[in-house]
This record gives sequence, structure tokens and C-alpha cells, in this order.
Amino acid sequence: MSLEYEAFLLANSMHRSNILSDIKLLWKSIAIDRADFLAIYLQKPSLKRAYLSYYWVLYAIKIARLLNNLKINFENPPKILDLGAGPLSATMGAALFYKNLSNIFAVDRDVNFMKIGLKSVEKLLNVKLDIEFIKANLKWFSSSWKPKLKIDLIFIAHVLNEFGNNYSSLEKKKKLILNAINCLSPNGVLLIIEPASKTISRDLMKIRDWIQDNEQAKIIAPCFSGILKCPLLVQSKFNWCHSEISYNRPTDMAKIDKLLGLEKDFLKFSYLAITPIDSNRKSSKLRIVSGAMNSRYSSKYYVCSQDGIKTLSGYRNDISNSFVDFRRGQEIDLSV
Ligand SMILES: C[S@@+](CC[C@H](N)C(=O)[O-])C[C@H]1O[C@@H](n2cnc3c(N)ncnc32)[C@H](O)[C@@H]1O
Repeated sequence: MSLEYEAFLLANSMHRSNILSDIKLLWKSIAIDRADFLAIYLQKPSLKRAYLSYYWVLYAIKIARLLNNLKINFENPPKILDLGAGPLSATMGAALFYKNLSNIFAVDRDVNFMKIGLKSVEKLLNVKLDIEFIKANLKWFSSSWKPKLKIDLIFIAHVLNEFGNNYSSLEKKKKLILNAINCLSPNGVLLIIEPASKTISRDLMKIRDWIQDNEQAKIIAPCFSGILKCPLLVQSKFNWCHSEISYNRPTDMAKIDKLLGLEKDFLKFSYLAITPIDSNRKSSKLRIVSGAMNSRYSSKYYVCSQDGIKTLSGYRNDISNSFVDFRRGQEIDLSV
């Protein structure tokens, strides 16, 4: 049985409402870009259960795969701070990738959601986590949630969009990000993950430009080092930087997807990986920022480079060439 299906069954037993209609309701609020709906929905036990049954493990797998792709490694088991932890999806992603974690601090205004998440992670992964729950409002002062220890890996996963997108919420997002950066150990990483939708991703691209101007931190992915203004943001109103990781949906979950009328061939998201300005971590190289644009004999991609957005093209009939398999968000090295 897959981990995804185990989570589905475990969550299914937590409530008596119809799980498939609950997942569909949640999916609508995620797909139609209304974070305020999602925030309200997640207060209902039946919809918390739907989140745990479907999105929770998907998000954990997505985060584990991202940590792997970005090679965010530490000498010792990392200390974790999960901001807006919900059912601990990001912590679970870290547990899947690193196996051993040191102290974990999980912050949310809803402690019950974190407690349900902890029971489920420990059961599914057969681990015991050293975790402290902190009930706090992330829009308020950081003194209510800031741990005394310096932290190796901080997550703000699927949270910023719930702050809204007016001027005052932008200021609150910036304050939270600065406070998080101040908690990092010298080679620590802050990983901000957001849904892949156009509006939310473009908001994150604007935040990216603001961080680039900041003297305390540098962005190590997805951006090429040293680019002052996001070229995709400048180039057009219609583009947005997001990533896709290919994903083999287990057959047991594919049956549930079929009942739901959903497809999960790859995992989509937008993100920023940030580290203190004088950390040893290196920034990204070139990165694919479009899907494949195929004509009969050739494929074309847009690539984010030091000199802005460039076009990369190649012939499709060259079987030895992995060119046609590039995924949006994939890092590429043209020097080899
Ligand atoms: C969509 S869930 C994401 C949970 C988890 N990080 C994940 O990736 O699955 C958003 C979480 O952020 C929390 N949250 C949103 N705004 C918050 C705030 N101002 N203070 C504390 N928690 C907040 C919500 O309670 C919810 O648990």
C-alpha cells in the first residue's frame, strides 16, 4: 500500500462525512485561487480531515523532492522551524528526506491541527519527533514564536497567500520573512513554498525582488545569482515563475483520483530558497521557466539566465538528447 493511500485511509477514519465531496470542496478553493476560502474551510473538522487525506502527503512528498533537488544538506540532523505548520506537511517532508531531525518548532494559530498532524506523521513514518507546538499569530510580534536556538531549516509552506494581497498584508509578509531570516543558523535555509497559481506566484516574484535588495539574505533558488530584478516579472504580465516535479501517482490513489475527476501527473508549486548573505551555499545555475514549445522537429524552452530570459532550442529527433524532457523549474548546466 502506498504512503498516499495509507494517509487517505487513516484520515478517512477520522470523520463520518463524505470524504470525496469534502476533497472536491477543498480542491475548488485551492484551484480557484481563493486562499480566504481555504482558511475558513480549514476550520471545519471534516475539511481538515479532507486536507489530511489528500493534500498533506502530496505536499510532504513535494517538499522532500524539492529538498533533494536543491541538495539542501546539513552535517547533523537539522533543527526545524515550521511556520504556519498546519498538520506538519513541511515537517513530514523534512522527515521523509533527512530521516533524522533534531529539535522541531511548529507554529500555528491552530494547535489542534498540528496535534492531529503529529499523530499521523508518527504513525505513518513510524518515528518519534522531538517537537514543540507554539500557538501564535504570525502577523504579530515574532517574540511570541521565535525559538531561542538558531534554526537550520525554516518552512513557510502554503501560508503567505492566506495573509491576503493588499498593501498591509504585503508588509506583514515581509516582516515575517525578515524575522524568519533572523532565526537562521549561518548556513541555514528558509524555504517559502506557495501554490503555483499565477496571482500567488507573481506576488512571490515581487517578494523575491524585495529580498534581492535586502542586505541580510541571498536567494539560492530558483533564481540565478545576482539578478537584481526578476526578468520574468519585467518581461510580461502573463508569465509566472513556477516549478513542476514529475510524479508517479500510485495505482491505489489513481483510483481515488478517477472518482474525484482529478489528475496528479506532477507536483506544481512556486518557491524561494533563501540563506543568510554570508552563508557558503551557492545560488542556482540556469533554470527552465517555461513548458516545452514543440514544433514538428524541434523544441524550444525559455531559460532564466544572468542576462535575462533566453531561448534554448534543439531537435526533437535526437534520441540521445534529454533536451525534450526538461521540466518547468528544472536546473540545467550547459557547460557539460
Ligand atoms: C494551507 S495551511 C498550510 C499548512 C502546511 N504548512 C502545509 O504546507 O500543508 C495554512 C496554515 O497556516 C496557518 N496560518 C495562516 N495564517 C496564520 C497566522 N496569521 N498565524 C498563524 N498561523 C496561520 C493556518 O492556521 C493553516 O494551518
